[in-house]
Amino acid sequence: MQPKGLICAGGEATRLGELTRVTNKHLLPVGSWPMIYYPLQQLQLAGITDVLLVTGKGHAGQMIDLLGDGRLAARGGADAVLELDLTYKVQTEPGGIAQVVGMARDFAAGAPLVVVLGDNVFERSQSEAIAAWAEDPVRARIFVKDVDDPENFGVVVYGEDGTVTDIVEKAGVVDTRYDSPPTSHAVVGLYCYPPDVFDVIARLEPSARGELEITDVNRHYAASGRLDAVEVEGWWEDAGKHWQHLADIGRLIEQTGANR
Ligand code: DAU
Repeated sequence: MQPKGLICAGGEATRLGELTRVTNKHLLPVGSWPMIYYPLQQLQLAGITDVLLVTGKGHAGQMIDLLGDGRLAARGGADAVLELDLTYKVQTEPGGIAQVVGMARDFAAGAPLVVVLGDNVFERSQSEAIAAWAEDPVRARIFVKDVDDPENFGVVVYGEDGTVTDIVEKAGVVDTRYDSPPTSHAVVGLYCYPPDVFDVIARLEPSARGELEITDVNRHYAASGRLDAVEVEGWWEDAGKHWQHLADIGRLIEQTGANR
């Protein structure tokens, strides 16, 4: 069965301060595009056109104004920017990324699911690794990248045989088993799940910060030996961290392009 796509674009975006008082974080400029175009294009490049976009209550209207049905021509030109079939859902409270994934159950209708966080931008689309997973989507696949600031992310712990033995979400803050991150291998915001992901989410308990954590979903697959961690090709950035970062990522895109 062809995978479907999910973009998580809810949440409160308090880290971007004044910029997100009335505008949704995912509509802010990154390079020449609104941030949300990049994860949408990434799904398209992986051959996934049936996409659910989950957004917060205050900003659903702006998002629909911008993206419409998912077919978007470039302004002043005939070239298509996006050629997707978009469905929308509203997350009324930011209950965590896993809560958003759980909202896709009826939409997925038994298909496997590729999830991209709305604030993640990649130099390379990772479409080959997604396509390889989609050939037989019975395991979960996550993507990892070495970072200088692992305290801001979920990080992966590997066993001696190279398999993932544990994942630690924001060590010392969300996961209090550790005071600091045990590794610097961050889990990025791109996840591939088999259809049973919804049963996993249905059994989750909220974390210390009151959210259903995507890291707990991934830990479940790791514990049952059904998780693969793939190294990200090219650079990867989380555009939701700080306003200065938006311009930095724009410059990176100018130099190398994105989703190549
Ligand atoms: O960027 C990668 C990181 O993303 C991972 O390393 C972490 O394991 C994962 O938990 C996540 O951490 P963040 O702190 O970056 O998550 P954030 O709250 O910024 O949300 C990421 C995206 O998900 C953002 O675009 C908004 C969306 N989101 C988030 C929450 C909490 C929702 O749609 N609904 C939500 O309830």
